[in-house]
This record gives sequence, structure tokens and C-alpha cells, in this order.
Amino acid sequence: MKIRSVSALQIYDSRGNPTVEAVVELADGRTGHGLVPSGASTGRHEAWELRDGDAQRFLGRAVGKAVANVNGEIARVAVGRDVFDQAGLDAALIALDGTANKQRLGANALLSVSTATAQAGAVARGEPLHAYLGQGQGRLLPLPEIQIFGGGKHAQGRVDVQDFMIVVPKAQTYEETLEVTFNVYHAAGREMKARGLLAGVADEGGYWPAFDRNEAVIDALLASIRLAGYEPGRDVALSLDIAATDLFRDGSYEFGIEKRRFTSAEFCDLMISWVEKYPIASIEDPLAEDDWDGWKKLRAAIGHRCQLVGDDHFTTNLARIERGIAEQSANAVLIKPNQIGTVTETMQAIRRTQAAGWLPVVSARSGETEDTFIAHLAVATNAGQLKVGSFSRSERMAKWNEVLRIQRQLGARAEFRGTRIFEQAGIRFGRPGGR
Ligand code: PGA
Ligand code: ZN
Repeated sequence: MKIRSVSALQIYDSRGNPTVEAVVELADGRTGHGLVPSGASTGRHEAWELRDGDAQRFLGRAVGKAVANVNGEIARVAVGRDVFDQAGLDAALIALDGTANKQRLGANALLSVSTATAQAGAVARGEPLHAYLGQGQGRLLPLPEIQIFGGGKHAQGRVDVQDFMIVVPKAQTYEETLEVTFNVYHAAGREMKARGLLAGVADEGGYWPAFDRNEAVIDALLASIRLAGYEPGRDVALSLDIAATDLFRDGSYEFGIEKRRFTSAEFCDLMISWVEKYPIASIEDPLAEDDWDGWKKLRAAIGHRCQLVGDDHFTTNLARIERGIAEQSANAVLIKPNQIGTVTETMQAIRRTQAAGWLPVVSARSGETEDTFIAHLAVATNAGQLKVGSFSRSERMAKWNEVLRIQRQLGARAEFRGTRIFEQAGIRFGRPGGR
């Protein structure tokens, strides 16, 4: 099936910022759409997000140039191609851009067309997107990592740590994870209200963190878990995204709200002490993106008992993932399609991670859209984990809900391993009965 036309328009993400939607139209008139998300705590090594920079309009954030690139150069290369040749299209897009980080045409322009093409291919085959992308091999429903409190750049630095999340060892099914999460999320709301701290939600839908110390948020999360009737560690475990790149300035780590500075070694020790003190199953970006020595030290110290996820550290970039595997700097990779810019490269990153015996965590951005591509990607690749923010706001719920629909489509073929996925990577977090 040939691509008849490719075009784009400027739409708006969950923060109201402009972003790109591409429409790939097939010879028979059917279409696929690709909507691009946008990060706030971005890594230096991410592919380039092209914005107009004209301060007079949308604070410089308009995406008119990216839209024009889709309508012009990109459309000329894509039109007439076979929609089923995703790898060929993506290679053509990369070659057309010609830069190492996709800064000429913009990773947002390229990804919109890449995902719209995948969607159109699925439509043309009459298959759900997960089945099309995974060539029928996808059947593992992801373990959700769900945010309860948001912080960092998603809450104007109100606390330093970015994501206070939960995973649910207790859950035997995907639905049960959502039910437990519902209970914890609402208990957290009640807890905040009782403390007179209820002040709405941050960018990804977790409660706005009105606390004076970072560990106070962990304590509030543990209190919420107990208030919901669960035992921390045994039933519900913690997952943090420190987003430490944002805390790293002039060679040291800084907790702004606590007015504390740490060397890399001290920050490593802090992370280790948290894993010893709290039932933490996973930590993302515990160190800054290029603090390779710190990462290696931490992996050696706690990699057998805690998932260590590289987000800014890897930026879904195969070369950085290869180096991480060679140097044993982590044991898991956050996967964000717009960090790298094409579907093919994203899937390569997932496969390489899995081949190393590491765990991929498919992730949304803090600026999201209603697109559910990543829910399909997670199932298609049997990634095993999905992180899309909290349990509120429709740009988040759209993804959790889509997994329910995929589960229904898969029927008896669907599988859920929950936190048992960690064992696959040799990670034994916590102990039965908690600490
Ligand atoms: P971002 O946040 O989309 O703002 O980068 C998400 C994350 O850090 O995982
Ligand atoms: Zn992150």
C-alpha cells in the first residue's frame, strides 16, 4: 500500500504548548496520525526538538518550521513509499535530515511522520497497532509505574525529586494494579487534605508536593499506602525518578529546598541509604546524565536489589545504551520515542536493552497528547513496563485505558508478570513482609 500524501498541523500538548501532528494518507484514502509529546526535564543528548523561537508568538514555542518541514521536504521523500516499509522510511528520514541529532528538520517533525506511518500501516493491514508493530509477538501487558506525587521541573522545583511513584508487587493482573493505584492515589489526596496541603496536581497528574524535605514526600507516600490498607514493600513498592541531571550544577548535586549540596560520591551514598531505608524497587536517573563513574558505582552497589533506569543517561540512544551495557552503568533503560526520533530506532533501543538482559521501561513525556502509541509499543515489544505519569488527567489515562483495550483484544494470549519482571534482570528488590 502506497503513501499518497503526508501533511502536518500544529496542535497543543497537555501543557498547552504547540506540538506536531502528522497525517499519513494512503492510496485508498485511509489515514494514520502521529502526535508528538514534549519533555521539560530533557537530557542533553536527546534528539532535537525544533521550535520556531520567535518570542512574539507562543513564547518561541510554536512549531511552524517543523510543520513546514513535514509538508515540504519530508512529504516529498515519503510520498509514494510502501507504508509497510517502516525501516526504509525511517532510514530515508534520517538520511534526509543528515545531522547526528536530527536538528535540521527536527526530531518532532520526523517522529510525527514515523509514528503516523506505523499507524497507517496497522490500519492498512486491519490490525491493532500493537499487533502490527510487534508482528503478532506482543502479548506481555506492562507493569505500570504510576506517579502519586510530582516534583522537580514538573512542579516548579517545589521539591527536588521529580517523580514519587508506586509499583504493585501485590497485583496479579493489570487491572488489579490500577485498582490498587486508585486506592493509593485517593488515599494520598485524603492525606494531603488532612494535612492542609492539598494544592492540586503537577504536570503529570500527581499531587502538587507541598513539603519542605524530599524524604518527607517519601514518608507521605508510605503513609498513603498504609492509609489505603496496604503494606509498603510487600503490597506496594516505591519507584523514584530523581531526574538528577536537573540537580547537578557546577560539579555537585543540590537539593534546593533543603539547601544541601553533595559530591557525586555523597549523592550515591544517599541513594544507597534510601534503598536501605525504604522499600524502593526502582530509581530512575539517580545521577546526572554524564556521571558515568557514579552510575557504575551505584550499579555495583545496589543493581542486584533495585532497578536502575537511565533516562537522560541514555536518551533512547543506541550508542549510549551500548556504552552503558559495556560499562555496566545501569540495568534498565527508559524508552521515549521523541528522545531519538523514529519508530525503528526506538524499537532497536528496546531490543538491544532486552538482549543485554536489561529492562526497558516505555515512557511518556511530561508534555503529552491524547496519542496512545506508547501503550501499543510497550505491548508490541513485550517491554514489560510502562510509565506515563499519574492516575489522573486524560493524556495519562488514555494510555492506561488503552492497555485495557489491548488486553481485551489479546484475550487469553495476554500475559502479566507484574514485578516478577525484575527477576528476569536479576533484581531482587525488598523482602517479603517489607523492611
Ligand atoms: P520529561 O519527564 O518528559 O519532562 O523529561 C519525564 C521523565 O523525566 O521521565
Ligand atoms: Zn526521567
